[in-house]
Amino acid sequence: MARCRCSGRALCLCVLPFVMMSHLLVYIMVSIFVAMSYVPEPQLPLHFVASGASSNSGVLAPHPLATFWNLRLVDGALWNRLQHLQDRQHNPILRGNRTEIGDPSTDPNYMHQADGPPPCSPDPLWASQLPDFNTMPEQMQDFVLSMHCRRYTLLIDQPDLCTGQDADAEAPMLLMAIKSQVGSFENRQAIRETWGRSGLVQEEAGGKWWQVRTVFLLGRQDITTGPHPDLGALLQLESSHHKDVLQWDFRDTFFNLTLKDILFWDWLSMHCPHIHFIFKGDDDVFVRTGALLGLLNEHLGVNNDSKEIEHFLVGDVITNAWPSHQPHTKYYIPESFYKGVYPTYAGGGGVVYSGALARRLRVVSQWVSLFPIDDVYLGMCLHRLGISPSHHPGFLTFDLPEAERGKPCAYRRVLLVHKRSPKEMLTLWRELKASLPAC
Ligand SMILES: *[C@@H]1O[C@H](CO)[C@@H](O)[C@H](O)[C@H]1NC(C)=O
Ligand SMILES: *[C@@H]1O[C@H](CO)[C@@H](O)[C@H](O)[C@H]1NC(C)=O
Ligand SMILES: *[C@@H]1O[C@H](CO)[C@@H](O)[C@H](O)[C@H]1NC(C)=O
Repeated sequence: MARCRCSGRALCLCVLPFVMMSHLLVYIMVSIFVAMSYVPEPQLPLHFVASGASSNSGVLAPHPLATFWNLRLVDGALWNRLQHLQDRQHNPILRGNRTEIGDPSTDPNYMHQADGPPPCSPDPLWASQLPDFNTMPEQMQDFVLSMHCRRYTLLIDQPDLCTGQDADAEAPMLLMAIKSQVGSFENRQAIRETWGRSGLVQEEAGGKWWQVRTVFLLGRQDITTGPHPDLGALLQLESSHHKDVLQWDFRDTFFNLTLKDILFWDWLSMHCPHIHFIFKGDDDVFVRTGALLGLLNEHLGVNNDSKEIEHFLVGDVITNAWPSHQPHTKYYIPESFYKGVYPTYAGGGGVVYSGALARRLRVVSQWVSLFPIDDVYLGMCLHRLGISPSHHPGFLTFDLPEAERGKPCAYRRVLLVHKRSPKEMLTLWRELKASLPAC
């Protein structure tokens, strides 16, 4: 017994140093391994030369700030797959500089009202690529079935909206393009009487006067959600009286809002190509138009032909947003349809951008597959132009703090606020007129 205990102790004494040594050894080996596998970040060259660029010009293009072209085919999600093919086909390096198309009237992509676009009907082709298509919410199913359709007939047009009958008249400073629905007569009228008045509008604090135009973007009344009174005749009356309604032949649903962007850009290139700025927003927001004109004039005078103007888009900028994966929400996007984070985008309640940018958006959007959420889609187009939207704290798409909403002075720094009923628009308009100068 005694011998055994003794040898056990001896064994312990002998083995302990080895156990400690082995820990040390493991530590040293791991350290060496880490040190060996450390590779310093490769230094990107400051300039990037596309193959084929002439070598003796001495002018080099700046290196892109981030990877802008995904080389891997993203498996699974339908939109990513469709877009991957488009990105490849229209890669600006492989295809050269094609973000500018000449005269829109000679552009075969633009469909005149007279000949109309070819009829496009729902197609189950993409749906067959989605294993969970049958369990998707109806709005998603409808979207997938008709996401290949991008051209719809213009039912109500306003060809003279921008310059009147006189084609040589100077283009207005600002065009306010407002997403509306057939039934929202009251919103449209309140906007016309307040912040969306067409005609000469003065900058805040007694500044310059500028020509402003307002136009409402409508689809067809969505009659699939239940019986609806037919408001067609009333809309005809309204549009012939005010001449500020554009209506296209597609169902006016939330997931079809992106169509309003791309169809509006087409219309713009045809009927208002020289507009300086565009406001695009909802019909339940309130805009301080005078203050907005002040901002536009101050930063980017009408004659400012700087490069900056081609990149100009301001709004309430949202970064690193993920698609909603909650099946019962309005914004739900299944993972089988879209994978990944959304690009930086400006909230759809209201954004302002330059006419020069609108022309580029129109071209690049032809290479971006339709996406059901319109402000995200705009972000996707901007991303492909290499443009980041600028945030402006005056765009309050989530409203003022509740306690401040009733105080006119709280609106001093506001450019846009969501959301206001027609009645509230009228009250606020009157109050701000009277009390803002006193703040
Ligand atoms: C690319 O197109 C833009 C827009 O028309 C133009 O300003 C620019 O000069 C073009 N660049 C080249 C290298 O052709
Ligand atoms: C969009 O409009 C088209 C044409 O009216 C329609 O077929 C489609 O179902 C609509 N999509 C959605 C998501 O409502
Ligand atoms: C043109 O726009 C740029 C960028 O916003 C601005 O810095 C510059 O002062 C403007 N120039 C004029 C003459 O307004």
